[in-house]
Amino acid sequence: MKILGIESSCDECAAAVVENGKQVLSNVVATQIPIHAAYEGVVPEIASRMHTEWIYGVVQEALKQAGLRPAQIDGVAATAHPGMLGSLLVGLSFAKAFAWSRKLPFIGVDHMLAHLYASQLIEAPEDVFASPPEYPFLGLLVSGGHSIICKADSFDEVTVLGTTIDDAVGEAFDKVSKYYGFGYPGGAAIDKLAQKGDPSAFNFPMPNLYKGEHRYDLSYSGLKTAAINQLEQFRNKKSAANTGGEQAGPEDIAASFQKAAVEILLRSLFRAVEDTKIATIVSGGGVAANSYLRACLAEQPELRCIFPKPALCGDNGAMIAGLGYQYLSRGVRSPLNTAASARVRTFKRRYP
Ligand code: KG4
Ligand code: ZN
Repeated sequence: MKILGIESSCDECAAAVVENGKQVLSNVVATQIPIHAAYEGVVPEIASRMHTEWIYGVVQEALKQAGLRPAQIDGVAATAHPGMLGSLLVGLSFAKAFAWSRKLPFIGVDHMLAHLYASQLIEAPEDVFASPPEYPFLGLLVSGGHSIICKADSFDEVTVLGTTIDDAVGEAFDKVSKYYGFGYPGGAAIDKLAQKGDPSAFNFPMPNLYKGEHRYDLSYSGLKTAAINQLEQFRNKKSAANTGGEQAGPEDIAASFQKAAVEILLRSLFRAVEDTKIATIVSGGGVAANSYLRACLAEQPELRCIFPKPALCGDNGAMIAGLGYQYLSRGVRSPLNTAASARVRTFKRRYP
């Protein structure tokens, strides 16, 4: 079964064809990063307009790279939630129109569940798992809009254990990078800078909210503010360095911030591992590309940690097509009046 997957929830205009929920036949991502970089953040109005201009060409390219004609597609999947409403509507409407015109089954899927599914995709023969992760496992979903620690009992039965009470982790990376002028988007820029930095150069506070119902929750506004408040001191140190004083470079701020940001995630995650006795962790979302996060989890011999390939961590159509297959192959369909929604819909609130 060959599924066309369309993703347009944020600033990536993406389409892909995936066979039987696993094999990626094509995966086209047209990024709007250079357009939004001028504003140092995604401008929703511009994003939806760009999707409108690009979506047709992106889908055509995905079919071309898969070597398929529209008549050879068996079903269509698109992101229905969560995301920016105007952007979501473009991909969702295009997908519904494609399905309607070719009389194909259609499914609207959840973007975060698709991130959780991404690590199961196969692009090259060496991607095949010796043993795929078995349910239940813990999910670590970390992106620009969400930070979720969850328990997955199947591809769409996911219970949120903890989530951020303020900013998402990717958002904190992006904001700190913006204040320091490290580059846009911030996550990859900080990750790269941090490779040469001293993670103990700056000491950032850890949130203290792990009580009662917040046991697995996360908070990033304190870290973000503390990192931004270092800006003055950082500048002073830089000028001191110029006159022969103590040296602290941008790479030190980046490494120290990144260490704290990852530690916040890991504290809650390890608590969830301890309580649930589940030792398999599947990660996904843009921040799952972070090299420090991946290295920290690789150092845990008692855990099995599964990450998508870095190129499949960010937004893409392959994860939408892969997850869409799981529904469509079971006969589940969405009606053609399916609406887009800005918020997460499919997760149960809290576990236990
Ligand atoms: O999943 P994604 O592409 O879009 C959303 O669904 O939000 O995630 C984008 C986020 C951005 O905040 C970006 O800065 C962050 O992922 N990101 C990273 C890295 N690469 C992208 N954060 C940390 N380290 C990275 N290497
Ligand atoms: Zn995403």
